Amino acid sequence: MDDTRSDTRSSAERIRVLFVCLGNICRSPLAEGVFLHLAESAGVADRFEVDSAGTGDWHVGERPDPRAAAVAQRYGVELPSVARQVSPADFQRFDYIVAMDRENLWNLERMAREKRGRPSRAKIHLLRDDDPDRAAGDDRHDVPDPYYGGASGFDQVYQMVHRSAAVLLRRLLAESSAP
Ligand code: 4NP
Repeated sequence: MDDTRSDTRSSAERIRVLFVCLGNICRSPLAEGVFLHLAESAGVADRFEVDSAGTGDWHVGERPDPRAAAVAQRYGVELPSVARQVSPADFQRFDYIVAMDRENLWNLERMAREKRGRPSRAKIHLLRDDDPDRAAGDDRHDVPDPYYGGASGFDQVYQMVHRSAAVLLRRLLAESSAP
């Protein structure tokens, strides 16, 4: 049967992006929700499959931290995540794995190296590599962990995530259409 609907891309055609932090209840759920929100606003949500996960397993099965949910709600962003831990299959399933801080990145790179079988298909990088407000030479690549801080930390994280995700979205669209 000829399926002519353009808004229903098969999973294989989508760009798959996994956002990763430590607990998967604060930063990566925000990054996932913001990225999806930006993609929907730009009319390109059907080009992507987006998920989030944690390198740790303490919060598996939990919805986002109430402070992350509150800041997202303030900006009209939904957070669909239910916490899960990164699995070896993620390195084959996703095109991009986007870490929130350097510790997450190192853990992901170690997992990718230690994984038996095929090498990682996913490109692994830091979210703030795409932060336009990170000054040249600034090595503060991390989205800081807001878990043990106050509500203002969550607003700061939201702003960093939002401006980085906007650039990331444009970059991935450009890379996917490059010959
Ligand atoms: P996240 O924040 O990595 O941004 O989800 C954290 C959540 C929980 C913990 C640490 C960081 N924890 O230690 O339980």
